[in-house]
Amino acid sequence: MTGLPPAPNECTIRCPLCGSAPLPIMSLGTQPLAQDFLLPDQAPSSVQYELLPQICLDCGLAQLRYRPASATVFSEKYPYRSGVSKTMRDHLQCLAEYCLDLVADKPDPLLVEIGCNDGTLSRHFAERHLRHLGIDPARRAVAQAAASGVTVLNAEFNPETGRSVLAKYGKADLIVAANVIAHISDLRRTIEQICACLTADGSFVFEAISLFELMQRRAFDLFYDEHVYTFSATAVDRLARSYGLELVDCQPVSTQGGSLRYSLAKPGAKSPSPRVREAIRTEQAHGLLDPDAWNDFAAAATHSAQSLRQTLDRLRRAGSAVAGYGATAKSSVALTFAGLGRKQLDCIFDTTPEKVGLTSPCDRIPIRFPAPDLVDRYDYLVMFAWNFLPEIEVRERAFRTMGGKWITYHGSVCIA
Ligand code: TYD
Repeated sequence: MTGLPPAPNECTIRCPLCGSAPLPIMSLGTQPLAQDFLLPDQAPSSVQYELLPQICLDCGLAQLRYRPASATVFSEKYPYRSGVSKTMRDHLQCLAEYCLDLVADKPDPLLVEIGCNDGTLSRHFAERHLRHLGIDPARRAVAQAAASGVTVLNAEFNPETGRSVLAKYGKADLIVAANVIAHISDLRRTIEQICACLTADGSFVFEAISLFELMQRRAFDLFYDEHVYTFSATAVDRLARSYGLELVDCQPVSTQGGSLRYSLAKPGAKSPSPRVREAIRTEQAHGLLDPDAWNDFAAAATHSAQSLRQTLDRLRRAGSAVAGYGATAKSSVALTFAGLGRKQLDCIFDTTPEKVGLTSPCDRIPIRFPAPDLVDRYDYLVMFAWNFLPEIEVRERAFRTMGGKWITYHGSVCIA
């Protein structure tokens, strides 16, 4: 139907991969859109949803039971830029090299990136004068990619886009997607379309947060509106076999607090690495499909959120200066779930120019640039960009030298 606004929430009661009834992991409360950073006087978005991750114990795919329509999540305002941190730029260079190895024996390969964002990955293909195409619906990010020499298509990757890419460029030798597939709700259509666009011996490489790592780390704040799915090797193996591909490799990578890089090919085109079976065995031996393990996860997440609140209230009562660091989507989840706001945190520091001057979606905590004379005034900083901890610790080493301490909150609250 046309002319109707998108439904505010979508609901998943059967696993979209295998049809089983998933197990709710825990409710993380009624949440705003995780990246709905607002001007101080701007009315909050009316979109709210219950954040309720669930796990399919048959195929190992985690999914959100309710989620806002994707048009509201990935609006024109969507602030993420791949190139914002050195950690991510370095990582995407390694991913580019991995992709280039896979096409090294092809005479004139075509490389397609789904979700190219600002072109930080595809730029490596452009610089080598390889045939390439970056596809992304985010207009401003794609304009940055084009400005850096990347050939772009400003569109969502869907069957129509797939057909036009095929008609204009032919089949791809490699399709890559870094932290994108988890955002797309229609897995079957997406994987089948990727399959249609790949040459007979082509590779589809994607990276996504590892559900197993998330579980081990108790990283409850990685569940939020943008991550419709959280994948495991167990689930991707099933996904590939269900929709016409084969999982041929799987390697851990450090991004987003622990991700997996999956390599898929058409069945029989490549021999699978023993790493695939090993990853699946490890996940299942350590509780990925065990309801008790997920109960433990929920109890630990609840405990750490409560302890975080108690700790911050205690520090504030003692007169300490406390702020957050990293205006991340994760911060919105953790703050809302723990019931934190301006009473506990003066501000959240973040280097992203598009975020500075805005406020958090929960309780309007101001976002400030981490200028040294400002950061160093604080006694404690809650680390919400924990996936960039090493890079941030280097940037903010004066904070520590001046006696400042970082607070982390997964599993238990740690002040160090
Ligand atoms: P990101 O990991 O993309 O978080 P999420 O996916 O949960 O939104 O965001 C990291 C944030 O950390 C980003 O807003 C930039 C910020 N940041 C700093 O403020 N200082 C730094 O030194 C680094 C590396 C990142």
